[in-house]
Amino acid sequence: MKHEIVEKNVGLLVVLILVVISFGGMAEVVPLLFQEQTTEPVEGLEPLTAVEMEGRDIYRREGCVSCHSQMIRPFRAETERYGHYSVAGESVYDFNFLWGSKRTGPDLARVGGRYSDDWHRAHLYNPRDVVPESIMPAYPWLFENTLDGKASEAKMRTLKTLGVPYTDEQIASAKSDVRGTQEIAALIAYLQQLGTVLKDTR
Ligand code: HEC
Repeated sequence: MKHEIVEKNVGLLVVLILVVISFGGMAEVVPLLFQEQTTEPVEGLEPLTAVEMEGRDIYRREGCVSCHSQMIRPFRAETERYGHYSVAGESVYDFNFLWGSKRTGPDLARVGGRYSDDWHRAHLYNPRDVVPESIMPAYPWLFENTLDGKASEAKMRTLKTLGVPYTDEQIASAKSDVRGTQEIAALIAYLQQLGTVLKDTR
């Protein structure tokens, strides 16, 4: 019996089991790769500027994602608080995604424009100064550190190979765009554009 060969050969059995269960994963994942909705940027979506991109790296470095999601689910309680639910086309230029999975603080997917730059400066310097009951950490060093832009060009070139449509001019001026920018300014520039492309269609 042919089946006996499989049953008596553990290695072969393992391989065939993996093949069988991979069908489930493929059925879920593969169609998404071909759906325009998940691969096409939403109208008006622009890649992050060099400074915003550095701000995003600071957001990642400081672990903001461990307390803040960037993913508004399509439920009324969420859309009333945060705005239009997040759509895939807003994230097509994001490498890696910062959707997060934990909300110790509020979702930030559409925080862009909700507060002034000055509010963010005060809040990040010491959250308790503006929200007395806040448990968010303070980030005073962002006001002392200045970016040199040394890696900005290479980062943008890498993002371009991944499909982010940076122009040669944007890449060429990245270093001078970034050099001398305070970390706090870059982070706020990043926060202020979050979710603004779909903001008004609520
Ligand atoms: C330990 C968890 C924690 C971490 C880490 C954290 N936050 Fe927060 N954040 C909070 C909490 C809680 C609030 C709500 C209270 C407040 O406004 O301070 C908040 C509020 C905010 C708000 C206001 C959002 C709104 O809609 O009112 C912004 C903006 C923000 N955080 C940005 C950041 C950034 C940027 C970082 C990383 C540099 C960060 N947070 C790191 C917990 C955190």
